[in-house]
Amino acid sequence: MAQLWGGRFTKETDKLVYNFNASISFDQKFYKQDIEGSKAHVAMLGRQNILTKEEAEQILEALDGILEDVESGKLAITEEYEDIHSFVEAVLISRIGDAGKKLHTGRSRNDQVALDMRLYTREEIKAADALLQKLLQTILEIMKSHTETIMPGFTHLQKAQPITLAHHMGAYFEMFKRDRQRMSDIYQRMNYCPLGSGALAGTTYPLDREDTAKTLGFYGPMLNSMDGVSDRDYLIEFLSALSVVMMHLSRFSEEVIIWNSNEYGFVEIDDAYSTGSSIMPQKKNPDIAELVRGKTGRVYGALLSLLTTMKGIPLAYNKDMQEDKELTFDAIDTAKGCLALFDGMLATMKFNKDAMRKSASLGFTNATDAADYLVNHGVPFRDAHGVIGRIVLFCVEKGVAIDDMRLEEMKEFSDVFEEDIYDAISMETCVNKRLTVGAPGKEAMESVILEEENYLRKNPVMS
Ligand code: ARG
Repeated sequence: MAQLWGGRFTKETDKLVYNFNASISFDQKFYKQDIEGSKAHVAMLGRQNILTKEEAEQILEALDGILEDVESGKLAITEEYEDIHSFVEAVLISRIGDAGKKLHTGRSRNDQVALDMRLYTREEIKAADALLQKLLQTILEIMKSHTETIMPGFTHLQKAQPITLAHHMGAYFEMFKRDRQRMSDIYQRMNYCPLGSGALAGTTYPLDREDTAKTLGFYGPMLNSMDGVSDRDYLIEFLSALSVVMMHLSRFSEEVIIWNSNEYGFVEIDDAYSTGSSIMPQKKNPDIAELVRGKTGRVYGALLSLLTTMKGIPLAYNKDMQEDKELTFDAIDTAKGCLALFDGMLATMKFNKDAMRKSASLGFTNATDAADYLVNHGVPFRDAHGVIGRIVLFCVEKGVAIDDMRLEEMKEFSDVFEEDIYDAISMETCVNKRLTVGAPGKEAMESVILEEENYLRKNPVMS
């Protein structure tokens, strides 16, 4: 047990209490950020003459040494320390003695941990953004190749109207584009520096908070020291944005699972992204899509946990906040893993155009267009709807599609029908006549693809 406090205690900490309280098993994840923050703090203490130049330099050099040794594996982070902050400080003191004891001047672990977590999360927001960008590129490639690949569009999981694969993919493009926008919004709000907030009330040393904020790449210092040590809003926002990402991935996964089923056969997941059964030799299962769908619950859970943890906490720092770490780390790693895996699965997936087209032509997906044909020949829409409804019933009974009917048969339902009805309700016409912005018609789709390409060009990953 090695801890940074003890002066006012007359007894050793109970072993169970020590373990319950300790966070090093998980906060060692941000050793790099802890050292980076300490370096900015010490350099500033030197510039402000709070420490001598020599002391500051000695500490900075030793901190670099510690970082190097941890990275090379020479120095192991051991769990005999309470947290990563204690570990770094203890090693520093063991290496340079008294000067090391000055590292913590004008600082508390409260603003230190607030800083470390913010520095860590900031990089993870960028990493999530980069993975989303990569997924968008994969989706766009599919869109470009499939503006003429006709498939059924669904409502209530019932065939509704024909669309194209490009159009279907385009819906996900928009979702993940908004996810990227959320990442950048969060970044804009969270990129302010808590260092210098002290335990809660700032410090009496003449710290230059603008200086440390700038050194660490923040837009500026946080403007209230109580908020500085106790704000976890940005984590809640990030977990919320990751939950939305997971919700999108989960919907997409659900579709891949359905499309990959024997009944649909719209897609085939690559062997490298499928798994087999230990008993049924014929099986090729969509486990990756199922796991992504399943892991969504974990990320939602993290969001709900943190919201619940924060709801009753009075200002300013309280130890409850230590709970932010494990669940945030887990949610970040889970979401990043899912984004990467899903992207790989999508990029290697084969689309079975014939099965999609056949499915589109066999579900009365052109019924709306047949009604529109009558409307265009002067029949009021409500009447046209009734006529086509009766035709569909007729076709269901005979087991045929509308296009399979002879013109004379159609004329029995309405004498407005002429030979051009067949062209009016072909799958190609149904799709390509839909040319309003955002619709599946080839020309409409091509201009959207251009816009999405522009978006990707103008919005490189956050650096
Ligand atoms: N491990 C603590 C956390 O994660 C660090 C801050 C400790 N501060 C304190 N006053 N005990 O929140």
